[in-house]
Amino acid sequence: MAREFLARIPDEVAFVEVHPENYVGRGGLYRRNLDRARDRYPVLTHGLTLGFGSTEPFDRAFLADVRAFLDSVNAPWHSDHLCFGGAGDAFVHDLLPIPFTDESVKTAARRITEMRDALDRPVAFENLSYYVPLAKDPLDEARFCVEVAEHADCAIMLDVNNVFVNSRNFGFDPRKWIDLVPAHRVVQMHVAGHLVRPDGLRIDTHGEPVPDGVYELLDYTLRKLGPRPVLLERDNDIPSLDELLAEVRRLNEVYAAATSAGVSSVPSTTTTTSTSTTTTASTSSSHAEVAK
Ligand SMILES: [Fe+2]
Repeated sequence: MAREFLARIPDEVAFVEVHPENYVGRGGLYRRNLDRARDRYPVLTHGLTLGFGSTEPFDRAFLADVRAFLDSVNAPWHSDHLCFGGAGDAFVHDLLPIPFTDESVKTAARRITEMRDALDRPVAFENLSYYVPLAKDPLDEARFCVEVAEHADCAIMLDVNNVFVNSRNFGFDPRKWIDLVPAHRVVQMHVAGHLVRPDGLRIDTHGEPVPDGVYELLDYTLRKLGPRPVLLERDNDIPSLDELLAEVRRLNEVYAAATSAGVSSVPSTTTTTSTSTTTTASTSSSHAEVAK
């Protein structure tokens, strides 16, 4: 996929997103492919292993390596998840939710601040999909995200599909969730497809095309918050490049319709939509292990 993508350099893609964990300490073909992509596209970065809900101290040497990588691709900010992924020496390769408590707010804000200092650039957190109720009112998740953003004075990497999946699994109006998000905090968005099990439970697999409901929520979100870079995530059951690009074109259409409809804010970048082709092609193994 990476070879085909780089041979075509498709115009409908505006930027690529990569996981530093797949490049730090690694050269060769991966780095050469990334450098070729950088010749044509801006690169955004998104982490998988430095969750802001963990209580373990950061590995400072790894953070220094991540910073050097971000510098090398000129990343404007870096995002990771509002989650924890392990404890002690155990790492579960999953993005586990944290309770919506004041203690969690303090823990996350402290880690975000520490990461921002170490990486010397803005840091954003991504909202999760999760599968057990964590509060009587599922909108408490949005309020919790806002609290963390305010305490850390940081950005939000808003995953629209995660909001949609949670809304269907826990029975709330996803627009009310979006309505609680302060527009000035959001620097980027994700969309993806997900699995609908026979019992109705939705699992955030990134292994299906983006469904109509997620596009509709993206349309609402863009109209409400204004234009932001939107990434199409696809990490499992990756189709042909032609099929992926057809999805990107649909995403571009939704984006153009929503952002030319009276939104007054100026986009923070000129990018519109993208595919994670570089990410999926070169890093699908580690990303696929991480349920988002
Ligand atoms: Fe995401």
